[in-house]
Amino acid sequence: QRIVVLLSGRGSNYRALRQAQADGRLDGEIAAVVSDQPDAAGLGLARDDDIETFCVPRAQHPDRTTFEQALAEAIAASGAHWIVLAGFMRVLSARFVQAHAGRMVNIHPSLLPRHRGLNTHQRVLAAGESEHGASVHFVTPELDGGPVISQVRLKVEPGDTADQLAERLLPLEHRLFPATMALLLRYPVEARDESISIQGKTL
Ligand code: GRF
Repeated sequence: QRIVVLLSGRGSNYRALRQAQADGRLDGEIAAVVSDQPDAAGLGLARDDDIETFCVPRAQHPDRTTFEQALAEAIAASGAHWIVLAGFMRVLSARFVQAHAGRMVNIHPSLLPRHRGLNTHQRVLAAGESEHGASVHFVTPELDGGPVISQVRLKVEPGDTADQLAERLLPLEHRLFPATMALLLRYPVEARDESISIQGKTL
């Protein structure tokens, strides 16, 4: 099964997925990497791996609709079924999300449903919480609001800074994301609207 990875930045989660594929832990093929940022380090990693890359800069499109059309064309050209958002920093329209419903997955650095959106590490500390984590979830039109598939937990230590939390969480993300994708590829899970089904059975 072909996977396309969408990213905007450094691409460490892409690298973890790619490594899992190389090790045989992920029974799928990363067919392409798409970025909205021409200078994303993740694009360079993909080129080094001889993975096809597509760059779709938002600034080259007059509005979000044409930008998303170009994004959809890149995804279609990759021939991928699974669309993996790995640090993709653009909010996608409901129309775009619905067109790819049930096959688009995101990793978010918080224990959803807590702390949707940005600056999750700071917000965990500001709220005085004792645990933090990351979630992999299906993408629905509600930002970071789709059904959660998997989570990893991290203890917040006294005196932790946001940077320290981010640094300890990242290697856990790198284990969670490939393992979750391996599971999804192994078992045909689909999420649509309010329901999730596995092998045709609604949960
Ligand atoms: C990760 O922290 C991920 O949870 C969030 O964006 C960051 C991407 O990092 N969605 P990288 O580009 O994969 O290194």
